[in-house]
Amino acid sequence: MVDEDLIFPPEFCWGVATAAYQIEGAWDADGKGPSIWDTLAHRPGGFAGGATGDVACDHYHRLAEDLDLIGGLGVTSYRFSVSWPRVQPGGRGPWNPHGLEFYERLVDGLLLRGIQPTLTLYHWDHPQSLEDSGGWLSRDIAERFADYAEGVADRLGDRVARWITLNEPLSVLNAAMFGSSRVDGPLGRDGLQMAHNLMLAHGLAVRRLRSAGVRGEIGIALNLSGMTPAGGGPADLDAARCAEVHEDRLFLDPLFHGHFPLVAGRPVVAGEIIDAPIDFLGVNWYAPARVAASPAGLFGYTRTDLPGVPVNMLGWPVAPERFGALLTWLRQNYPALPPIHVTENGIPLPDGVNAPDTERIAYLSECLGQLSRAIKDGMDIRGYHVWSLMDNLEWDHGYAPRFGLVHVDFDTLVRTPKASYHWYREMIAAQRGRRKAGRPWRA
Ligand code: FCB
Repeated sequence: MVDEDLIFPPEFCWGVATAAYQIEGAWDADGKGPSIWDTLAHRPGGFAGGATGDVACDHYHRLAEDLDLIGGLGVTSYRFSVSWPRVQPGGRGPWNPHGLEFYERLVDGLLLRGIQPTLTLYHWDHPQSLEDSGGWLSRDIAERFADYAEGVADRLGDRVARWITLNEPLSVLNAAMFGSSRVDGPLGRDGLQMAHNLMLAHGLAVRRLRSAGVRGEIGIALNLSGMTPAGGGPADLDAARCAEVHEDRLFLDPLFHGHFPLVAGRPVVAGEIIDAPIDFLGVNWYAPARVAASPAGLFGYTRTDLPGVPVNMLGWPVAPERFGALLTWLRQNYPALPPIHVTENGIPLPDGVNAPDTERIAYLSECLGQLSRAIKDGMDIRGYHVWSLMDNLEWDHGYAPRFGLVHVDFDTLVRTPKASYHWYREMIAAQRGRRKAGRPWRA
């Protein structure tokens, strides 16, 4: 099943990704403090199916087994996140030595297996105590985040290959603005203030990581879609432009143009902290968006189905062949981009431990085909991470949507590699074998 047309540069980085709250469990073990996700999960009517991350995949207690699963794939990078309240329970002040030791064991276990650690500092689970004092609406959290970044760097700065400050600031903001349960924020919160504080946290952390002398590269992971207007009329064209500003451009512009795009007619100047140079841009991509004008939408637009395109169990269009369009858009609109790492890409499917997993393999292969073409066309794309190593807690959607290359039985916590795991392993081996055999990567 290895596609002979897929040809990647010899030094291309092959990876899988996870996030702390979605896999670790051990929510109150060994001195960990509560995160906002613990609070959300424990509320009556919390997540779909009554799910919580209390146990999740119990990765915290099964680290050795999971390291072997990662090693068995032959990947060269593993993207994981540090749980802020596990290492600094109150979000300020004292550190939890057990938490730091856990991530040290993880990082050392990766290095022993020849795998580069790609560490995300913030994958949405900040300490509850910081939420109590204003969360992302308060500027103070940006300063606290920089301190936290420095604390992690003091411990792991000599061993981490890539640092990702924030994962998907847009999701954090959207969740707050749309009042979803992802972040406990009601409508009407000041979105721009929040966007600014998120980017300030990012910029301050970049500075702090640099002054701490970390050896790895530093970047951020943004979720991007690629917008298509539903029709050719001016209203839909405007809607698509508006969606681009509110979603795809919202964090790219301050990072690479030095200011936020105009939002609701208000320009916000970013200043030199937010656009501190970064070494790579992380791109999380799952689906494109088709946008129509709609007075009912918060910003006058809404997403609509792509005609003839099926949607997956989370309602996202299954259109991997559109990945290239987003990459081209990025290249055309941001000519001075740093190198790109795809930091997440995957598809949710229902349970089926013994299923052939063909849909996942087809989706991932098509995305890789798009990526390989973009590289041949001259884009500087250095790495790719499948979301996810294993089935896990899909936030408020619970455990039903399964993104893993490894199946997890959530009753027994037994892990079973799926067909897609074997497919990915063979694909990586073929690409790395090409390198060993010294074959040129350009066709
Ligand atoms: C992304 C998140 C990741 C996972 C995937 C499916 O938005 O970064 O944690 O939930 O979606």
